[in-house]
Amino acid sequence: ADERLSRVKGAVRGFPDFPKPGILFRDIFPILRDPSLLKDLCSLMLDHIRSKTSEVDVIVGLEARGFLFGPILAMELGCSFVPIRKAGKLPGKTEKVEYILEYGKDVFEIQEGSILKGQKVVIVDDLLATGGTMKAACELVKKVGGDIKDCLVVIELSDLKGRDKVPEGCSSLINY
Ligand code: PRP
Ligand code: HPA
Repeated sequence: ADERLSRVKGAVRGFPDFPKPGILFRDIFPILRDPSLLKDLCSLMLDHIRSKTSEVDVIVGLEARGFLFGPILAMELGCSFVPIRKAGKLPGKTEKVEYILEYGKDVFEIQEGSILKGQKVVIVDDLLATGGTMKAACELVKKVGGDIKDCLVVIELSDLKGRDKVPEGCSSLINY
C-alpha cells in the first residue's frame, strides 16, 4: 500500500449528522492543515493524472473544494486552471448547465473561451456523492468542446453509485 495514501486517509474526519441528521460528513480540511499531508495528496493526484493521460491542457476545478487542489495540480503540470462556479459568480460571457441537487436545481457556469475546442481536460473535486455535480461539470466541459480525460475526486461515497451518472471515466483515491 502507498504510504502517502495511508497518511491522507488517516486525516479525513467523519462528522455524524452534519449538515443534516443521518449524514456522515467526510471532512477533507484536516489534510490542508498539515503541509506534508497536502503534498502527499497532491502528489497522489498528480501520479494518477499522469497515469491517465500523457498530456493535460486544463485542470477544471468545481466550486468550492475543487478550487483547493486544482490550481496546485495545474501549476505542477504546467497547464491552465479553470473554475466551474455556481450561477452568477463569474463575470463576462458564460456557458451554463442546469443540474439537480438533493433539494431543487442549481446552475453551473464556465467562462466563455476558458477552454479551447479539443483541449485535454481533467476535472477535479473533493468528493463524489450522488454524482449530479460531476455529471453537470462533464456536460459543461463538453459543451465548450473540451476533451475529458478523467474526472478525479479525493473521496467517493460508493454506496450512492454516483459514478454511474458520470458520463466519463471517473477515479477516486479513497472509497467509503
Ligand atoms: C459537495 C462536494 C461536491 C458535491 C458532491 O459540494 O464538494 O462538489 O457536493 O455531491 P454530488 O455528487 O451529490 O453532486 P457542495 O454542493 O456542498 O458545494 P460547496 O463545495 O460549494 O459547498
Ligand atoms: N463531505 C463533503 N461533501 C459532501 C459530503 C461529505 O460527506 N456529502 C455530500 N457532499
